[in-house]
Amino acid sequence: MKIDILTLFPEMFDSFFSHSMMKRAIKKGILRASARNLRDFTHDRHRTCDDKPFGGGPGMLMKPEPVFEAVEALLGKIPPRTRGRALTGRRFVYLTPQGEPFSQQKAKALSRSRHLVFLCGHYEGVDERVIRRLVTDEISIGDYVLTGGEVPAMVVIDAVVRLLKGVLGSEESKSFESFSHNLLEYPQYTRPASYRGMRVPEVLLSGNHQAIERWRRQEAAQRTLKRRPDILKKQESRSCTP
Ligand code: ADE
Repeated sequence: MKIDILTLFPEMFDSFFSHSMMKRAIKKGILRASARNLRDFTHDRHRTCDDKPFGGGPGMLMKPEPVFEAVEALLGKIPPRTRGRALTGRRFVYLTPQGEPFSQQKAKALSRSRHLVFLCGHYEGVDERVIRRLVTDEISIGDYVLTGGEVPAMVVIDAVVRLLKGVLGSEESKSFESFSHNLLEYPQYTRPASYRGMRVPEVLLSGNHQAIERWRRQEAAQRTLKRRPDILKKQESRSCTP
């Protein structure tokens, strides 16, 4: 997979791509990633990327020209009147609190693309023509407002890249984790069996695999019911629809 990030702060991604799973994915040739500075696509002395909104109102907006020029530098000329789909086989993701809520399902869908382009928003947002003409997916990582789209882009990229074949080792299996099965994970323990007066539940030391499975299922269900009843409700309504 190829990932390009359009940002005002490309250096923020240096550390992200040089550690842990991202580093591994790049080393194995599964991922090619680069962060591009939108200011490199400006033509004035101050390398201006923002301007006041037409019609007035607070704050500044990201100007369309640096974004369009950055995309053309990456992908070639954008044909007029195409909408989002100027980028066949690719997806252009804009990170914004106005976007659709990010989910494991969305991560899976994005992981099927061969090329993802991320636009990290700043200021009060971006000129709507960028969204209309280029963006295929508007994503929010939660109902809160961050200072920019860089951290949300890292969140989305992390969730997507770990799904790519060969990134996780076999021991880091993906199939049994939270959200894949619509349940949160059961509690886990490692050695020592007793630590500072806290003992690992006896069943886990019993060697009785059936009992362990049963205990884990119960714990996962209880935890989900307590912390995320919305997940169970969603599952119920899905299984009730004819
Ligand atoms: N930019 C600022 N806040 C954001 C959020 N919650 N999700 C995505 N992009 C954002």
